[in-house]
Amino acid sequence: MNWIKKSQQEINDKIFLALTHNVNYQKESIIGVPATYLDEKVFTKDKFTMSDTPFLSTLLQNPNHIGCHTLGSSESFFAGTQAIEREVISICAEDILKGTIDQFDGYIASGGTEANMQAIWMYRNYFQSKFKAKYSEIAVICSTDSHYSMAKGANILNISIYKVDVDFETREISRDSVLKAIRQAKSEGINYFVVVANMMTTMFGSVDSIEVYVDAVQEENVEFKLHIDAAFGGFYYPFSKGENNLINFQNPIISSITLDAHKMAQAPYGTGIFLARKNLIHYTTTQEASYVEGEDCTLVGSRSGANAIAIWMILSTYGPNGWSEKIFILQKRTDYLCDQLRALKVQFYRHASSNIVTMKEQYISKEIATKFGLIPDNHHDPKWYKIVVMDHVTLEKLNPFLEKLKEQLKDKMYVD
Ligand SMILES: Cc1ncc(COP(=O)(O)O)c(C=O)c1O
Repeated sequence: MNWIKKSQQEINDKIFLALTHNVNYQKESIIGVPATYLDEKVFTKDKFTMSDTPFLSTLLQNPNHIGCHTLGSSESFFAGTQAIEREVISICAEDILKGTIDQFDGYIASGGTEANMQAIWMYRNYFQSKFKAKYSEIAVICSTDSHYSMAKGANILNISIYKVDVDFETREISRDSVLKAIRQAKSEGINYFVVVANMMTTMFGSVDSIEVYVDAVQEENVEFKLHIDAAFGGFYYPFSKGENNLINFQNPIISSITLDAHKMAQAPYGTGIFLARKNLIHYTTTQEASYVEGEDCTLVGSRSGANAIAIWMILSTYGPNGWSEKIFILQKRTDYLCDQLRALKVQFYRHASSNIVTMKEQYISKEIATKFGLIPDNHHDPKWYKIVVMDHVTLEKLNPFLEKLKEQLKDKMYVD
């Protein structure tokens, strides 16, 4: 009943019609979602002729990047594009995140969720293998602002999760809140901690202090491994913060990092990136993967090599200076938005090196939230609404929002 053979024309009509029912980032005034169209320098429509489109050609050749290609052997069938995936891993681990050359493993995961789960899985098995830890003694510890992939990962991996409270206004963890969560966990039999710190949280763009976590776990004298969730911030914060960014592999306590190219790097979905120091990823090797050359230590199975190509093309099109300029412009636009909100006396949170602006709920009517696609922290009981200054969120998109907000606030007498 569902499966009916169709002509090429019918197929085209159906898909193009479906696309008109999706959001159009160019034409509509959607400014709240952490998503946008694919990078326009690499994926422009007029470049989509076969001879000029390495990405489409890769899709058609359909390389399978199953496994991890930074250690041991790999499927020899796809050696060409696997080498490009290794370049992406090196650019991210060594150039962006300042790691030492050839000291990192990694792979292109389906997204930030998978990359975070890969980290939790790796450390769970590490504690189990090195210390004979039972699952009941291992827990994830992260802030209440962390992405829900931590809860998902802990659930799937059958370990506990403890949440560290953040301050409502500053969104910061504190020494006391971390100690409280660790002590609670210890009293419930936890001795091994997978600490996950954020480089830009989903809702606020806030950045956790590594020192606060590390001081607390060291004071409590527990075993831990530190993972950074930079799914949103990985292609933003190291550039907006510049030389002052200390959350990178120069810090020996950081063992692994998640990045997502399908957020700020405007790559197609399926471009999460998992990076780990050498001598860790083998803890997730599945010995039973005997038909895969080089075995498999990744969470996913088969995955498209075209995803690695897309990321490599985007990063190579900009180069480091072009990327810094891109982030510089987004920072300026975010500054502009914050200045205007201050003038309207709207209370909001913004980390100084972030492009996420999260406004308190009392200033935002349902009408404005819907019209401008603002995302609440909680759909049932919103306390905050966010704007994410993505590539398509230009002043042309921000000004109508600010005008409407001003109009509504005047009515509510918030503004002089
Ligand atoms: C901070 C953070 N971590 C992880 C994720 C999960 O990423 P994905 O949706 O690619 O699985 C997100 C997604 O919004 C995120 O913002």
